[in-house]
Amino acid sequence: MTRRQLWGGRFSEPPAQALRAFNDSFGFDRALLAEDLRASIAWAEALEAAGVLSPGDVKKLVAGLEEIGVEVAKTGMPHDADDEDVHSFVEARLAAKVGPLAGKLHTGRSRNDQVATDFRLYVKDALAEGAAVARSLALALARRAEAEAATPMPGYTHLKRAEPVTFGHWCLAYVEMLRRDAGRFDNAASRADECPLGSGALSGTPLPIDRETLARSLGFLRPTANSLDAVSDRDAAAEFLFAAALLLVHLSRLAEDLIVFTSDEFGFAALPDALATGSSRMPQKKNPDVLELARGHAGRAIGELTGLLAVLKGLPLAYDKDLQLDKEPVFRVRGVLAVALPALTGIVEGLLLDHGRMALAASDDRLLATELADELARRGMPFREAHEVVGRRIAEAEALGATLAALGPSKEITAQDLQALDVRRALAKRDTTGGTAPRQVARAAKAAVRRLAGGAS
Ligand code: ARG
Repeated sequence: MTRRQLWGGRFSEPPAQALRAFNDSFGFDRALLAEDLRASIAWAEALEAAGVLSPGDVKKLVAGLEEIGVEVAKTGMPHDADDEDVHSFVEARLAAKVGPLAGKLHTGRSRNDQVATDFRLYVKDALAEGAAVARSLALALARRAEAEAATPMPGYTHLKRAEPVTFGHWCLAYVEMLRRDAGRFDNAASRADECPLGSGALSGTPLPIDRETLARSLGFLRPTANSLDAVSDRDAAAEFLFAAALLLVHLSRLAEDLIVFTSDEFGFAALPDALATGSSRMPQKKNPDVLELARGHAGRAIGELTGLLAVLKGLPLAYDKDLQLDKEPVFRVRGVLAVALPALTGIVEGLLLDHGRMALAASDDRLLATELADELARRGMPFREAHEVVGRRIAEAEALGATLAALGPSKEITAQDLQALDVRRALAKRDTTGGTAPRQVARAAKAAVRRLAGGAS
């Protein structure tokens, strides 16, 4: 098919190959074909409602646009099409079907409000998808939290054994992050719910278009309020990238924790075979590639967000061609979420816990040093002094390679005080909202499962 140039009139020579190679965007913005067809159909109908096009013409235009969708669904998107962008591609295809009438579709419309609308429709879908995948992973974690509400393991600060927690409590920490992530996608979607179509090139359309009806016909809550802003606003894309980057930052932390937990040194858990990888050289290896990729993609997503913000920061109103560079980062990051989240969800569901190794690690009674100090403080010793006393006792125990319990009572520590060196007791005591007591964890996990299974966060 021949290239349909949308802007040739005032030019004395055709576009140079060098211009086309640099300027054309069809190679990537063809991903917006479905949105372009949808918005074009809505525009044709709005033109009819405004009395600009006859019902007969609009019927032909709509049928032609629908046919393009069916055709592409059947034969796939042509990769070698010689078009400037998805908008000129659609117009060329339409012209091949309905002839010169195709040229009437662009009445009162600009590619500026057209691309803003197509991309907004796309980003709205990406936001909904982001929220959905974040919730699915959160639900998998909440279910594991319910099952492992009383499973003790060491909790860490500075990656040094600190105080005991339960594995369920660890799961719920990530549930909280993911719930906020899902909420962030939802919030961004509500801000993105305004339709730019009808903003023209920059100043508004001169036709008597009912923009409220047009907006609703495309599933938007309302039309955008300022045409200059509407054709150049890419906040929805930036918010998608931020919400996705922060989600990936959370996933990267989850991945890092699991890499540590499944390491040979920790051995708290093993990855399900189906979600681990091997080495071409070392037969014994079972590697956490999925987790490492999640960690790596977090870094790249931060770059995608930074890249888009940098593109936007110096742009004079209204549309500038720099804005053509808004799409690929969003396409790429949406693609990453679509494959990363199901893989991580599978790992969470299939993770094989070694309860024995976890319990053994959690039984290191140095994890209960705080408990012992609290016990002395409860008997009336100032906590600072209790901290010192227990600290000295720890040093003695370490020098002898013994546990605190094995050292037994001392001048300041009674046999009664040593009863505090009990993991289950320490866990059960953290029984306020947000604490690691199995009772709290079970309750919080149950509530999270209920909310998430019902589609809320
Ligand atoms: N391919 C362009 C983009 O993605 C479409 C809008 C072109 N508008 C223009 N004034 N050149 O931004």
